[in-house]
Amino acid sequence: MTMLLHITVSPRGELSHSRRAGQAAVLRLLAQHSALTLIERDLGRNPVAHPDARFVEASLMPPDQRSDAQCAALALSDELIDELDAADFVLLSTPMHNFMVPSVLKAWLDHVVRPRRTFRITPMGKIGLLRNRPVRVLMTCGGAMGGEPTGQVDFATPYLRYVFATIGITDLQVLPLENFNRGPVAQAVAQVRFDAWLEALTWNRPCCEMR
Ligand SMILES: Cc1cc2nc3c(=O)[nH]c(=O)nc-3n(C[C@H](O)[C@H](O)[C@H](O)COP(=O)(O)O)c2cc1C
Repeated sequence: MTMLLHITVSPRGELSHSRRAGQAAVLRLLAQHSALTLIERDLGRNPVAHPDARFVEASLMPPDQRSDAQCAALALSDELIDELDAADFVLLSTPMHNFMVPSVLKAWLDHVVRPRRTFRITPMGKIGLLRNRPVRVLMTCGGAMGGEPTGQVDFATPYLRYVFATIGITDLQVLPLENFNRGPVAQAVAQVRFDAWLEALTWNRPCCEMR
């Protein structure tokens, strides 16, 4: 079975630009690959909880020493990791929030990036335990990135690269779709950029114009 995992992050439901872009990308991939199974993880509609004290304690406990209660505290984390690990291709549709990923996506990462499960700690540093696979990120932004005098710093792209690499996934590319809050002309420019990206999107080939 070939799996596509689509993670949506925006809280804005059907009004969301990133969700709409992600849905178009899903349709294109489904059209290319008839035997594809789609898994939708909608963090905007169904946010995952931030890790609590029970989660932290259980995740640091060696697996063979965990109590039933500690195993239960990791149940959601296990489910999210299994879902990610089953995916052959991950599409992540997210807005930028305060120069970073939205907090609900950070919470998802806190469940997924877990010692002894998705990475292990060695004297050489952390080593990822998941197999590599393509992760394509569509990130909508209200403003523009880089360039003076109004450009902003994008902390999300280097962060996503680093955190996914920590668990073994290095094939990650981000398409920033800028200026969504700067009026219809700026939105049309972002749409043209997205359409070109979509046209080039294939299951096997890396997409152009990504970071
Ligand atoms: C809490 C919050 C923080 C935001 N921070 C930024 C930001 O740092 N940079 C930016 O360009 N846009 C920012 N925006 C605007 C969104 O990124 C932009 O409207 C985006 O298109 C929303 O995507 P969506 O329609 O999928 O929700 C922010 C929006 C919200 C609600």
